[in-house]
Amino acid sequence: MAKKRRKIDSSISDYIYNIDLSYDLAKVFEEVKDTPTAPYFPQNPYKDSWFKNTKTWLHGRIENIGPEVQNIVDQIKELTESKDVVPKLVRQLAGSLLPLHTDLRKVTARYNLCAVNIQLTTEVAPVEFEEIGVVEPYRCALLNIIKRHGVPMITEERIYIKNSIYDIPYDVALSNYLKNK
Ligand SMILES: [Fe+2]
Repeated sequence: MAKKRRKIDSSISDYIYNIDLSYDLAKVFEEVKDTPTAPYFPQNPYKDSWFKNTKTWLHGRIENIGPEVQNIVDQIKELTESKDVVPKLVRQLAGSLLPLHTDLRKVTARYNLCAVNIQLTTEVAPVEFEEIGVVEPYRCALLNIIKRHGVPMITEERIYIKNSIYDIPYDVALSNYLKNK
């Protein structure tokens, strides 16, 4: 039985908001598809966590930024007024799920406060927030990743660019976006 999915509208704008950027999805995919990825925590600092060396959940920082990815980063910076946007390639393999978690982990010297995700596959997957349930699939959205969220079981591989924002929280990024778009 299909679960009811929340529409991405103003009633859940504390969690997720669809962002309108202009880019060529095929070009973006070409630029990033060979980015090396690896389990997010090869040695997980959180003992007994699902995230310990998880082979179905792979991240890779996009080191060689091509023109179409740069174009996306520039638009996100301009619209949200963030000065610290880092694009990463993320892959969630077919037949896996992503349990509820927050991204608020101090892995380096700074916190990832929010992110603009752009899904690159033809079929896009939905995200789930603990407090509101599963939302409709999105292509490009600003996500409040300090709220607990996850991804239900997927049958097709999910590939997306996560543009991590480190200098402003979700609510500031969203209000700037609404002002500047
Ligand atoms: Fe996350």
